[in-house]
Amino acid sequence: MQINYQETSKDLLTRIAIHEKYGSANIDVWTAELLKPQPGMHILDVGCGAGKQSFLLDNYTQGQAHIIGGDISEELLNLARQKNQARGSKIEFRYLDFNQPFPFPDESFDLVVSAFAIYYASDLEFTFREAHRVLKPGGRLFVSGPLPENKKMFYDIIREATDKPIPPMPGSSRFKGPILETIQRIFAHTELHTFENHLTFPSVEPFIEYVRASLSEDRKLWTPMFSNHEEYEALIARITEVAQRWYERDGKLVMTKVVGGILAAK
Ligand SMILES: C[S@@+](CC[C@H](N)C(=O)[O-])C[C@H]1O[C@@H](n2cnc3c(N)ncnc32)[C@H](O)[C@@H]1O
Repeated sequence: MQINYQETSKDLLTRIAIHEKYGSANIDVWTAELLKPQPGMHILDVGCGAGKQSFLLDNYTQGQAHIIGGDISEELLNLARQKNQARGSKIEFRYLDFNQPFPFPDESFDLVVSAFAIYYASDLEFTFREAHRVLKPGGRLFVSGPLPENKKMFYDIIREATDKPIPPMPGSSRFKGPILETIQRIFAHTELHTFENHLTFPSVEPFIEYVRASLSEDRKLWTPMFSNHEEYEALIARITEVAQRWYERDGKLVMTKVVGGILAAK
């Protein structure tokens, strides 16, 4: 399956900031407690984006782990490199396409992580075999991504506003099925963990900011819903009307993120 997916740094950073501002729980704490990264570990962050998870692991290992973050977006890699330099950390950020052989020898890493990214892979079997190949014996893979019940309120509002089916999301539609099954087949031991985060929006505006950062014309996933800028703005206007109605009815807008974390050992 070829997935035409492009992330812009602006959208990604907007969504991260909204999670931090309106969320009830911290995904970084959940991740770090599950993984317990140690100084000296060799860690690969696949689809690292602007480096959020790489910097988290670097903090938890007091800068003493060997961390490589890989992504196809030079724009996001450059943001990660700038932050790396500004904070004086030693993470290596480099180009990596998870649909191609990973550019590392066998058994190079203690931990391979991928947050909200690797599930966009075209051939899951190929990509997770690559992750397995570059892990040392006993090494661990951690993949996080949305579960099917993720952001129900967000999709319900869009459905009410459009009367159109929501395009299938490669993460949530595949996470518990093909992604978990592929990892279970390849790895010796697999666990599925769950993280819930309630985002309470105190008004309609920050919710619409989140909607824009998810549906923006640059994110090719949503293009079946609009084909040009006018249609996009008309869609946002209809979503705003519905969100306003929900807000007046309930006095708040609460969107629950339901995230799965697959932890597997080689
Ligand atoms: C939702 S972002 C998550 C970024 C980061 N892991 C985080 O948690 O902030 C998904 C990332 O996957 C990257 N990506 C998409 N296709 C890729 C590919 N074929 N190889 C490597 N990275 C890819 C995108 O560039 C983007 O940075």
